[in-house]
Amino acid sequence: MNLSIKHLYGLEGVPKEDLTQIFDTAFSFREVLERPIKRVPTLQGKTIVNLFFENSTRTRISFELAEKRLSADTVNFSASGSSLSKGESLKDTIQNLYAMKMDAIVMRHPVPGSAKLLSQFVNAVIINAGDGTHEHPTQALLDIMSLKEKFGKIEGLNVAIVGDIRHSRVALSNIFGLKALGANVALCGPPTFIPYGVESLGVKIMYNLDEALQFADAVNLLRIQRERQGKGLIPSLREYRNLYGMTRERLENLKKPLTILHPGPINRGVEIDSDVADGDYSIILHQVLNGVAVRMAVLFLLVGGK
Ligand code: CP
Repeated sequence: MNLSIKHLYGLEGVPKEDLTQIFDTAFSFREVLERPIKRVPTLQGKTIVNLFFENSTRTRISFELAEKRLSADTVNFSASGSSLSKGESLKDTIQNLYAMKMDAIVMRHPVPGSAKLLSQFVNAVIINAGDGTHEHPTQALLDIMSLKEKFGKIEGLNVAIVGDIRHSRVALSNIFGLKALGANVALCGPPTFIPYGVESLGVKIMYNLDEALQFADAVNLLRIQRERQGKGLIPSLREYRNLYGMTRERLENLKKPLTILHPGPINRGVEIDSDVADGDYSIILHQVLNGVAVRMAVLFLLVGGK
């Protein structure tokens, strides 16, 4: 039942056996989420703090709900309203919270590598809820779980990740997880959105969306991370939509089924049109449900539930 990892900093280097165990556990927790009473006593007596230094809707609520479903005590911390504004450092903040006897810390932070840094300050289990442009492991786990649910297996599946790969932590975590499980991965976007040297991770690069869609069984559409990029990487949003937007017309011209994922938040009318996001091929809201189950699995396996 034990994972080889003790913390979840990212999916880089996480072995296939650990990923398989996380998904098996997550599918069991999906059944709990379908029950009238959606709660198990698994993490009773454990205390988990959710530290969010960046905005979040899905990840934050999903972690909090997963902790409550497992009967853990949860504490939520937002950077705004904390003593960080009085000059307190991240190290002092974390050490003070840990002194209150926390078993696990879930953290979202804008600095890449910040989740791993925490392990130098405290002995708690650390779970990365997104660190800058680096990794967002539980998002990739829920994406891959949703693909596993849809297709039965990941090995041999063709997955295209489309959009602003360069600024996306979701893309990197998906690449590591999908490759570990034997999927074929293509990255598609304008050249300015494709990181230099990313081919070394064993992915194909495509600059034409229609070519990527022909390749793909499933496509994961990413928003343009405007908060993380400088100006001038694309000429205009209108041109981006014309070249890389998932429109109904594009989908109809494809003449084959395609599974559409999006980690959210969606920018309707840019990377995806409303009728595609809400249409039959979209599994976006299944992803959100699987997010609670996969976070329950990660917490259970790392925090030591019974
Ligand atoms: N997918 C995701 O991380 O969404 P939030 O930023 O709303 O948490």
